[in-house]
Amino acid sequence: MVSRIVEVDPFDIVVFGATGDLSRRKLIPALYHRDHAGQVPADARIFGTARRHMTNEEFVADAKKCVLDHVKATDIETASLDRFLARLAYVGTDATSAEGWDDLSAALGRDEERVRVYYLATAPELFGPICERLASHGLVTSNARLVVEKPIGKNLESAHQVNDQIGKYFPEERVYRIDHYLGKETVQNLMALRFANALFEPLWNSAHIDHVQITVAETLGVESRAGYYDTAGALRDMVQNHILQLLCLVAMEPPTSLGADAVRDEKLKVLKSLKPVDEANVDLLTVRGQYKAGASAGGAVAGYLEELGKPSSETETFVALKAEINNWRWAGVPFYLRTGKRLASRVSEIVVAFRHIPHSVFDGGAGPISNNRLVIRLQPDEGVRLWLMIKDPGPGGMRLQYVPLDMSFAEAFGVRNPDAYERLIMDVVRGNQTLFMRRDEVEAAWTWVDPILEAWKSRREPPKPYVSGTWGPSAAVALIERDGRTWHEDDA
Ligand code: BG6
Repeated sequence: MVSRIVEVDPFDIVVFGATGDLSRRKLIPALYHRDHAGQVPADARIFGTARRHMTNEEFVADAKKCVLDHVKATDIETASLDRFLARLAYVGTDATSAEGWDDLSAALGRDEERVRVYYLATAPELFGPICERLASHGLVTSNARLVVEKPIGKNLESAHQVNDQIGKYFPEERVYRIDHYLGKETVQNLMALRFANALFEPLWNSAHIDHVQITVAETLGVESRAGYYDTAGALRDMVQNHILQLLCLVAMEPPTSLGADAVRDEKLKVLKSLKPVDEANVDLLTVRGQYKAGASAGGAVAGYLEELGKPSSETETFVALKAEINNWRWAGVPFYLRTGKRLASRVSEIVVAFRHIPHSVFDGGAGPISNNRLVIRLQPDEGVRLWLMIKDPGPGGMRLQYVPLDMSFAEAFGVRNPDAYERLIMDVVRGNQTLFMRRDEVEAAWTWVDPILEAWKSRREPPKPYVSGTWGPSAAVALIERDGRTWHEDDA
């Protein structure tokens, strides 16, 4: 088993917000990796742009530092690095004035057919102004594609506005709304497991699945992002996008193909089938929390308010929800969702918990029988494990054991799992929108999230405090245990 390079057409990519965190930590290293792998055509060009005045040399030196800081030393080769750096150029532009746009236009040159990727790694307020300038400078050519990062709005109304602004200049089939969770290796594997095996699909419904858990737990706090984060909170930052997208991939009907609209149509149906959570049931179905000082990764850490530098804030840094999908396949199967900052460990996983056996033929001496679980681990230690009951080997009577069947192959075959951004950027170049969110999906997700935000607001209950380094407020444990279930632990 080897990784394979799929050739792409020559392209130019222009990264707006090139001096920012996303570009420096993710985009530049991802582009280096693809170049190192031999996927970037010889004449492809990479332009960085931002408001800051910077020379080409300064930009290239900074890009080199980004690669050295964020790429494993074993993946850095001088020849690849030199080739990569030679593709880079910097053009200063100001999204809100005419400054620099003629220079960008001159640098790109006139080539109607060439694939152009405009990657907006900027604040969303700049999406509209940037698109407008691109259009007025004749840069929205027939093969130009627009990539936008979340947040796409703060609610349904503002998402509409952002999408309208973008839509004035770029048709939907050339807009790529990134949700980097969709580019993660194991998320791809979920599609393979479900649709390339006959084994799971017949069981993939309420008759055989008891419930599903989706956990995205982080140990980091909000740190330097506190300013943005305080206007968002965990529901907007993680659930509206990443977690709902994961839920869609678990719950969607088999699409007719992996074509972009075939997949996105099915995801949209799931979003539209989510049972509304509003004032009537919000207390029962949701838990919000905010971290206090505590310990994380062995050291003492400050609380959210101290990081924020404010005496109070109602923003949640943790949320747990019980979601339900009102359709034939999933009626009565709860999807427990939780995410938070400063939790006990960094783990993102989807747990599909099958129903218990209907009757045990074993006597008490055999030990307890746990239900089968399929655990799709996104990070760390990406992989898939199917938990099964087996007989404890050897003599000594019938004793049962709960063991994981490990289906993680990347390590065994020495394959490097690419970062989500590597796959996603190349998908944009290829013109493949399957792993990007369509406008109606984003808006359907807000349609479900908005009433939760409103209900919380009218409740005026502050988020429940939790100590950093724990699994969140105890109410999150109660949320699932009330139903006679528990959050999955890997050695369960
Ligand atoms: C981002 C959120 O979209 O995803 C961050 O804005 C979060 O708050 C991050 O930390 C998590 O991504 P990953 O890939 O590290 O799990």
